[in-house]
This record gives sequence, C-alpha cells and structure tokens, in this order.
Amino acid sequence: MSIHIGAEAGEIAETVLMPGDPLRAKWAAETFLSDVVQVNDTRGMLGFTGRWRGQAVTVQGSGMGMPSLSIYANELIRDFGAKTLIRIGSCGSMQAHVALRDLVVAMTASSVSTPSTTMMREVNFAPCADFGLLRAAVDAAERRNLSPHVGAIYSSDTFYDERPDLTEQMTRHGILAVEMETAELYAVAARHGVRALTVLTVSDHLQTGEALPSDARERSFSDMVEIALAAAFPE
Ligand code: HPA
Repeated sequence: MSIHIGAEAGEIAETVLMPGDPLRAKWAAETFLSDVVQVNDTRGMLGFTGRWRGQAVTVQGSGMGMPSLSIYANELIRDFGAKTLIRIGSCGSMQAHVALRDLVVAMTASSVSTPSTTMMREVNFAPCADFGLLRAAVDAAERRNLSPHVGAIYSSDTFYDERPDLTEQMTRHGILAVEMETAELYAVAARHGVRALTVLTVSDHLQTGEALPSDARERSFSDMVEIALAAAFPE
C-alpha cells in the first residue's frame, strides 16, 4: 500500500497503462484484459490488474494534470516496482495537418513547469520517451494501417488557456498537440530509470474548434489501448 494506491504488494504489474480518467481505466481493463482484479479505489482513482496474452498488466487512472499524474507515477515506480508506464489519453491538435482522431506519439514534451522543475533549477530538462517503446508503438500502429504523428507535444498546466500567444509559438515551433501530463511522466521515469511513453488521440482542434463526439472518443481509445499493449509486449 502507498499513500494514494491501496493495492497490496504484488498486486501491481511491472507494465502500467495510465489513462487520465479512472472510468476509462475500468473500461480498458474490462475490455482488453482477462482475469481482471480491481486493485485501487483510493480517492476514486481506479486501478485494475489483469492479463493480456498471458502478461500481467495494470491499468491505473492518473487524474488530470501533472501534479496528479506525478503522484501516481512516483508511487507506482517507488512503492510497487513498475518498470514500464504508458500514458494513453487525448490531446488538442496544434497543427493543421494533425486532424481529429489522428494518433500522436510523443517523443518529447515541452512545458512551462512540471512538479520536477524546481529540482532542475536553471536547466531546461528535455523530457524524452523511451525509444524502444516508441518504435514498438509506431510499428504496432502501422500494422493496424494507422499512421501516427510522431514528434513533440506540449504539456500545459491549464485546459482553459488564456495565453493565445503561447499557443501560437508552440504551433510555430512544430509542436503537434497539447495535453497536460507527459512532461512530468517522462521526467519521473527518467529519474527512476524506467521506461515511459505517451500515445494520444486528437480529441479537439485548437485551430478549427472541432471536437470529437463521445462515441468516436471511445473507438479511438480502443486503438490506443491496443497499441500501448502491443508496444509493451512486442512480438
Ligand atoms: N488542452 C489541454 N489538454 C487537452 C486538450 C486541450 O485542448 N485536449 C485534450 N487534452
């Protein structure tokens, strides 16, 4: 047991999928895993452990934003021995060529700050995905005839952003999309020497104002879960 995760020792797998939404964690575990056991409900941040093709996998909600994700990532690694953390989530496109429903695989994530920023003092640390996981995720997507965008994203501290100038600079610098968790996930994973990756679906577009209806969100979420599992356990 840790402060925010009520699981017993041994109930968390080395491979953990992390959607922001705890109910998505429940849906993903019940849809894709066998032998599913609920291992956490502290603060309603549901976590489940089951098996995928015989391999143990945990799906644990991270909550929204870097401070929340940071708590779960730290405890999963430090208290439960997680070795591979894959965020599956949604993002807002910042580029004309990145359309609704497209997949984005994050090589790196810029941020204004993360919970790890103070530790880095004057250094602008460049949070970076695990290359083996990234390559395996892109391979898995391409096998499903999906063409993910692979590149840099922006991890924001705000969903309701009041800085259009910042959005404009991100777009000018080729940032593919905005979400709210990855820069801290990659920093925490780096600090502890474990693997991390973020796979996202575009749920809204900052330039056109379009947004995915909820049934389409569910379908695209299936692709992400399958790609994340295939990346964690390549054939
Ligand atoms: N901003 C921040 N996070 C997000 C967005 C967004 O537009 N869409 C999905 N996650």
